[in-house]
Order: sequence, then structure tokens, then C-alpha cells
Amino acid sequence: MKTLMVTYLPRGERSYTKKLADAFLEGIKNQPIESLDLLKDIPGFFMETSLEAYIQRNYMGQKLDAVHQKAIATMDRMTAQFKGADIVVLATPMHNFSLPGCVKTYFDSILLKSETWDIQDGKFIGLMTGKKALILLASGGIYEGPMASWEHAVSLARVEFQLMGFSDIRAVTASGMNAGKRQPEEIVAEAQEKVRAITREWYK
Ligand SMILES: Cc1cc2nc3c(=O)[nH]c(=O)nc-3n(C[C@H](O)[C@H](O)[C@H](O)COP(=O)(O)O)c2cc1C
Repeated sequence: MKTLMVTYLPRGERSYTKKLADAFLEGIKNQPIESLDLLKDIPGFFMETSLEAYIQRNYMGQKLDAVHQKAIATMDRMTAQFKGADIVVLATPMHNFSLPGCVKTYFDSILLKSETWDIQDGKFIGLMTGKKALILLASGGIYEGPMASWEHAVSLARVEFQLMGFSDIRAVTASGMNAGKRQPEEIVAEAQEKVRAITREWYK
């Protein structure tokens, strides 16, 4: 079973999300895991040539010239790595009520038609069925009650994994890190316990 952990943790060692990712790594012990650090390996944006390459190849079935191939090469490499995983763990903070731009760009990179999802008879079909995804996320606020509709981070990541057909999508959040209601250590410890429970279930 192959696991891919994708991280975007710009606060480094101070990151609360990292503490959740660490609990996951401890939980799976010696299982093989591949890592993608989006701070070091930056996903490609859709710009003029890369978008043209994607449309030409993935929608129109055309062969790409060298310039277009190169423009989409980082997306292709990240998509191949993503497709090779049975379990994908995404560890990211919430930024401005959503996924940080770099993480959204990663999703744009790997959500390639005919690679991770497709359209059949006018309907979306996911090509990543049978696979599992875990979203680990810390946020300053708490998204419950009247604030629930402001939450676009976990909800967006869930939709992206759903589109790709993931069979089991979980999320563990450490919410309210800056809300001053509870001690951050207490929130993290509770979330870490949830992460460990998932590792016990998935890596029996
Ligand atoms: C640029 C930036 C934007 C943020 N936007 C939000 C936000 O919209 N909502 C929220 O609840 N917290 C927000 N936060 C707070 C972080 O989510 C919080 O500090 C969290 O602990 C970050 O995760 P980390 O500890 O893993 O770095 C923001 C933090 C930064 C740096």
C-alpha cells in the first residue's frame, strides 16, 4: 500500500498542522511513504502555454510539441506521483477561509481530465476509486453555526477528492487555534488522537 503525504506548512516547526502530520507518520510506523513538500516543489500554474497544452492533449487528443510538453511537465510528474498512491494525506493550514494558493494550484495540477477524473455520458466519473484521502488542517477560527458557510478549505479539498472518485475521504481539523477559547495544545492533542485512530483503522 503506497501512501503519499502532500504538505504545505510555511510555519515549519511552529505549525499546528505539522503536529497532525507527525501523528500520522508516527501512527503508520514503518510503512513506506512518499512525501511532496509544496514549499520546495512548487506546482505549475495554468498559464497560456500550459493551459493550451492541457486542452490540446486532454480534451482534443492532440500530440503536443516540445514547447507544450515542457509547459505541462511538472503537472504530469505530480499527477503520475498522485495516481501511484493508494492513500493521499494532505496537510495544510487554512488561509483566507480556503486552501492556500499553492495547495489550490496543486489540485489544479493533478485534476487533469482523463488522468484522475473524466466525463462519461455527460457525467463526471472519478478515476481514483478504491483510494483513501485524509485532509489535515489547522485554522485560527472555528467554522460552526453562523460561521459554517465561511469554511471553504476542507469543503473544497473534499469536493476535489470526491470528483476524483476517492472512496474514503476523511478530515481531521485543529480549529480555533487563535480563537482564545481553548488551549492550542489541548485542541492539537484531541486532533492527534483522531489521526492515530485513522492510522490504526487504515494500516491494520
Ligand atoms: C495568510 C494567513 C491567512 C489566514 N487566514 C485564516 C482564515 O481565513 N481563517 C482562519 O480561521 N484562520 C486563518 N489563518 C490562521 C491559520 O489558519 C492558523 O494560524 C493555523 O494555525 C495555521 O496553521 P499552521 O499552524 O499549521 O501554520 C490565517 C493565517 C495566515 C498566515
